[in-house]
Amino acid sequence: MNKPVILTGLRANNDLHIGNYFGALLPIIDLAKNRSAEFQVNLFVPDLHSFTTPIDHTALQASIMNNLKTYVAAGLPLDNPSVYIYRQSYIPAHSELTVILDSFTGMGEMSRMTQFKDKSAGLNDERISVGLFNYPVLMAADILLYGAQYVPVGEDQTQHLEFARDIAERLNNRFGELFIVPKPVKQQHSFFGKDQGLRIKDLSDPLKKMSKSDETGKGVVFMSDSSDTATKKIMSATTDSIGVINYDKDNQPGVSNLLELLALVSNESLEDVLSRYKGQASYGPLKTELSQKISELLGSFQAAYQEVDDELLMRKLQADEHEMSVQAGQTLLRVQKAVGLRS
Ligand code: TYM
Repeated sequence: MNKPVILTGLRANNDLHIGNYFGALLPIIDLAKNRSAEFQVNLFVPDLHSFTTPIDHTALQASIMNNLKTYVAAGLPLDNPSVYIYRQSYIPAHSELTVILDSFTGMGEMSRMTQFKDKSAGLNDERISVGLFNYPVLMAADILLYGAQYVPVGEDQTQHLEFARDIAERLNNRFGELFIVPKPVKQQHSFFGKDQGLRIKDLSDPLKKMSKSDETGKGVVFMSDSSDTATKKIMSATTDSIGVINYDKDNQPGVSNLLELLALVSNESLEDVLSRYKGQASYGPLKTELSQKISELLGSFQAAYQEVDDELLMRKLQADEHEMSVQAGQTLLRVQKAVGLRS
């Protein structure tokens, strides 16, 4: 019997940061390490998604390789036959299913996507790409081609995940059981526990999300940052003038973000972190402990990155892309038959 699939992807539009690491990478890698007897694990690079907003295309190949090596350095086991690593554009079924799904997707539902609204805000229509507009359709194809039930993502992708469920149900209602519908988002959150649905905030502006495409990078701790750089960013994180540590996202978003990060990096519950810091009158010790723990994480990640065996990675990649083409091709053929493209 086929094992249930857990799948996620991280775009190659810049270096990955600790928000990506805790929000998406760590949950799937934990699963790959500990529960691959029960699940098939797919971790891929959505390379076609990487230029839905403008990038430097001469850097794309390097960026794709960097993501792949980051997956391995973060702990993805390459010697496990239930774990697959691949590049989206090497499996044409992703593009082909997207074109089919496009015709069952409403302009209205795509226009309502928060990420589309945010990323297109203030831009002239001519500068907003159709790629950005139908981004969630390609993402749905990524998920549905493999029948993925669990998709660990940060909070910003929840709406896209809901759309993947909607379009799967829509086509199933119309054509019979074509797709496995991903589990409801709430169920996914309880499956992955505290790592799920995260929204790590920018350190210098804790009202916004930590983001790869942030222009200054001042409030973003990248996985490639040196210990000094990361420490500087954390020690100068924006807090508030209240002067007492509380977990209060509305009134103390900066401190609350630091507390959340400390819980994640030290693998403690928020309650345990709060029992040490709540009520303290100085933010310094919290920032210092967080800087130390993040520096340790980056240090061991970067050492592992240096050790990644490129040749082994390329061999695994090619084998997995072949196997994934077979798996994705079966789903695509089922859909092509259902819509009348194949007999
Ligand atoms: P991307 O590349 O923007 O981000 C990769 C993952 O990191 C999560 N993330 C965060 N989590 C917590 N705090 C943050 N500040 C933070 N910033 C980013 C994102 O939610 C994401 O999980 N559409 C996806 C890529 C994708 C995909 C897929 C994911 C394409 N196809 C199919 C899952 C399944 C994206 O843009 O992620």
